[in-house]
Amino acid sequence: KVYQDPADPTSTINMPSKEVFASNLTQFPRGFAWGAATSAYQIEGAWDEDGRGLSIWDTFSHTKGKVENNENGDVACDHYHLYKEDVAMMKALGITNYRFSISWPRILPSGTGNVNFKGLEFYSDLVDELLANGIEPYATLYHWDLPQALQDKHDGWYSPVTSDAFAEYADVVFDALGDRVKYWITLNEPWCSALLGYGIGVHAPGIKDIKSGAYLAGHHLLLAHSKAVKLYREKYQVLQGGKIGITINSDFKQYYCDNTLDKAAAERSQIFVMGWFADPVFLGDYPEEMRKTCGDRLPSFTEEEKVDLKGSLDFLGLNHYTTALVASPLFRTNGGNYYTDMGTMDSSDKSWPVGESGWLKDVPWGLRKLLVWIQNRYDDPLIYITENGVSGPGESSVKKDSEGLDDTFRQSFMQGYIGELYKAIAYDKVQVGGYFYWSLMDNFEWADGFRPRFGLVRVNFTSQARFPKESSFMYQEMMARVTPPP
Ligand code: NOJ
Repeated sequence: KVYQDPADPTSTINMPSKEVFASNLTQFPRGFAWGAATSAYQIEGAWDEDGRGLSIWDTFSHTKGKVENNENGDVACDHYHLYKEDVAMMKALGITNYRFSISWPRILPSGTGNVNFKGLEFYSDLVDELLANGIEPYATLYHWDLPQALQDKHDGWYSPVTSDAFAEYADVVFDALGDRVKYWITLNEPWCSALLGYGIGVHAPGIKDIKSGAYLAGHHLLLAHSKAVKLYREKYQVLQGGKIGITINSDFKQYYCDNTLDKAAAERSQIFVMGWFADPVFLGDYPEEMRKTCGDRLPSFTEEEKVDLKGSLDFLGLNHYTTALVASPLFRTNGGNYYTDMGTMDSSDKSWPVGESGWLKDVPWGLRKLLVWIQNRYDDPLIYITENGVSGPGESSVKKDSEGLDDTFRQSFMQGYIGELYKAIAYDKVQVGGYFYWSLMDNFEWADGFRPRFGLVRVNFTSQARFPKESSFMYQEMMARVTPPP
């Protein structure tokens, strides 16, 4: 039997109606954090100002042919200069939680050693501005902008030296901002840093070594995470009273046919994406399935490292965008990507609507199924959706800003995913603490440059003017409606 959209009506209905929310206000937990997210390199610009060092993304995007149209984040949304206006804009849009990232090379221009106080000052001012406007900061320490010096001297994430350097950097940041920042995320999507950066080479630093390099980089990313968490817990957590977690990205892996082989393939694929990073931080080691396939290409943790890794999170940050159909390669020889180690064929259903980013199919029920998968495998952890969003098809080719604001595709995407989130919380009892839309505003979408626009707010990258899209008003109205009063 070939895969079909689940006929289960609870899997396909959209966001519950206003009436349902109105009569059932407590279905979203009290204190549920609604917000929006960004990252440093994608919005800040000011790449060579106030003592900022170079990151691997400066080098990568300045290398011809790496980014669409050879674009780069030199200016991006110029948020470094416009942060006050951006905070005011958030306030006007009713956003009360904001996830941003801190640029490591702004704080430690050479990766370790000298602290650049101008860099710290920027984030300290940003945090003050957020708090003064009633917005809770959620800070990510590493959203892909590794100091170039660490890549040059130590081969970046190939080396344990970089894990130690990360802890040194984290120490400086906890010390400076931890009195005001109460939610920390160590790494953003280590799967992408490892696989796209050191495996396939489509992200900085652009290394192609899918057999071993990706696993080696992933290993040192995990160790960096656990070192930073250990430090936070021993030195800061009691005094500062914050929480710390990690953000892991995962598609939902839906089996293609209802047979044992495809089901096993889908499970294997889910484990290779989610389990690669989630198993070590929850359970203390890599998944068995990965070890079986990869053997020594997957590095091993020492007993002490396993102890430190296990339980090294107060919450799981989940970035979720889309779903893949997974088949066993035995039965299907075309129509998808073949990932050798996973031993699966991934594809998608032609009926699924596609965002501007070709990989992004609008499949809301995948979020609910993934949340339940996590709930089962990791014993019901506290989860924050730290990213979910879509690049609106055609938004980049609009000539006048005023014509790019009626983003019906995004509105329907958000309704679908937030509706499924509602069901996961209300019916499946998954513990979810918050939801952050990606992104607050259009920004630099890595190797795709500025073409895919994910923002609730449109950015004119020439004038730097901001224009709220219809979705931002829909979101504002919805947040006000579903959040129970304190
Ligand atoms: C995940 C990444 O964390 C973010 O940087 C990126 O822009 C979005 N996905 C959209 O691709």
